[in-house]
Amino acid sequence: RLFKKLTDLQRFLGNERAKGSQIGFVPTMGALHPGHLSLIQQSTEQNACTVCSIFVNPTQFNDPKDFEKYPVTIEKDIDLLEKAGCHVLFLPAVEEIYPSVTQPVKHYDLGFLETVLEGSYRKGHFRGVCMVVHRLLDIVQPHNLYLGQKDYQQCMVIKKLIELINVPVNVTICPTLREADGLAMSSRNMRLNEDERKKA
Ligand code: PAF
Repeated sequence: RLFKKLTDLQRFLGNERAKGSQIGFVPTMGALHPGHLSLIQQSTEQNACTVCSIFVNPTQFNDPKDFEKYPVTIEKDIDLLEKAGCHVLFLPAVEEIYPSVTQPVKHYDLGFLETVLEGSYRKGHFRGVCMVVHRLLDIVQPHNLYLGQKDYQQCMVIKKLIELINVPVNVTICPTLREADGLAMSSRNMRLNEDERKKA
């Protein structure tokens, strides 16, 4: 099932919860690869209902060009999700996630997590990740959340977010999957040239 409107998704998930189904959630920005599918697999093994979201979140891109060039392969993604046995795809438009531009920007006190490593190179990135994950968790209200260890700092940030907003969700961090040459699988790899790929 594919939902674009959060009210439709919430109605469906309400029925699932009423049946006693555990809900597993895999948030993504699409351009799916085997790394994502391993999260879906883990979720389908542990939950009666697995929800995957595909939303290229504008608030987490510190560089607008990076946002514009982010790979979008939606038809292929839908096909992969069906084959992986994912039950629900949530595919919202920006207005569904951020309905009002006048909403105050939320501040999340992430402590040192925001200032080191990727936090120091991509100003505001983790605030954008927190905004969207907070919103998605409010909408989906999953029992279990699946994240990839590839984004280790993001996993730590999201765990901190969950502590700050105090929602009852278990986080499972799934192992990194790698290409034959050792590079961690990532949607962005398709934007690397040969030389950049070697460096990566
Ligand atoms: O890792 C990602 O793809 C994104 O940062 C996430 C967690 C889906 C939030 O937009």
